[in-house]
Amino acid sequence: MSGGERGRLIALEGVDGCGKSTQARLAADRLGALLTFEPGATALGAALRRLVLDPGAPPVDGRAEALLVAADRAQHVAEVVAPALAAGRWVVTDRFSPSTLAYQGYGRGLDTSELGRMIDWATAGLSPDLTVLIDVPVDVAATRRRGSRNDRIEAQGLGFQQRVADGYHRLAAEAATPWLVVDGTGPVDTVAAAVWSGLSGLDPPAPDDDR
Ligand code: TYD
Repeated sequence: MSGGERGRLIALEGVDGCGKSTQARLAADRLGALLTFEPGATALGAALRRLVLDPGAPPVDGRAEALLVAADRAQHVAEVVAPALAAGRWVVTDRFSPSTLAYQGYGRGLDTSELGRMIDWATAGLSPDLTVLIDVPVDVAATRRRGSRNDRIEAQGLGFQQRVADGYHRLAAEAATPWLVVDGTGPVDTVAAAVWSGLSGLDPPAPDDDR
């Protein structure tokens, strides 16, 4: 254990197909961190994820969609993230609050200040110590996704994904918390090295540290 010190929270973000899930796994392995994801990491979250993403689920209004991903996050924080951080573990999450600002805010056109207040309430004020944006042009990301079945949000098309990508750039530029923008177009190892160099500023635990 780590003598009562709180762990750190690292969020991996980006458009669908940018490669953030691979990078989240690599970073978590290297840090010995807990790897988790949104939406759907808890039992409640798995049910909410189906409602948001399953193309066969009933229609979801934009505000309802925002509330569903926020409910997923509230449960995720309460059940998984906050207890791990309190126990001194580092946590790497594949998506967190910035996804709601990027997708429901910039993508769907909901007011980002209102969403920000809702997110703060849902997370009880928890925000990432570092957000890593894996930056890939949307056409490249779409090519990477080709062949896999589109969920409801991926089915919104390239215009939607472009608004999300532009939103991420704005969030990174205007953020009050630390963001790292990594060029995600190169080979997996090159991207992983760039992510790792950003993480080193957080003073990560040695690999054999039990955090
Ligand atoms: P993701 O897990 O990255 O997809 P996959 O499992 O196919 O790799 O993300 C699922 C989708 O959920 C993605 O299209 C973005 C969307 N999403 C939101 O719209 N808002 C949110 O707050 C979150 C967390 C995800």
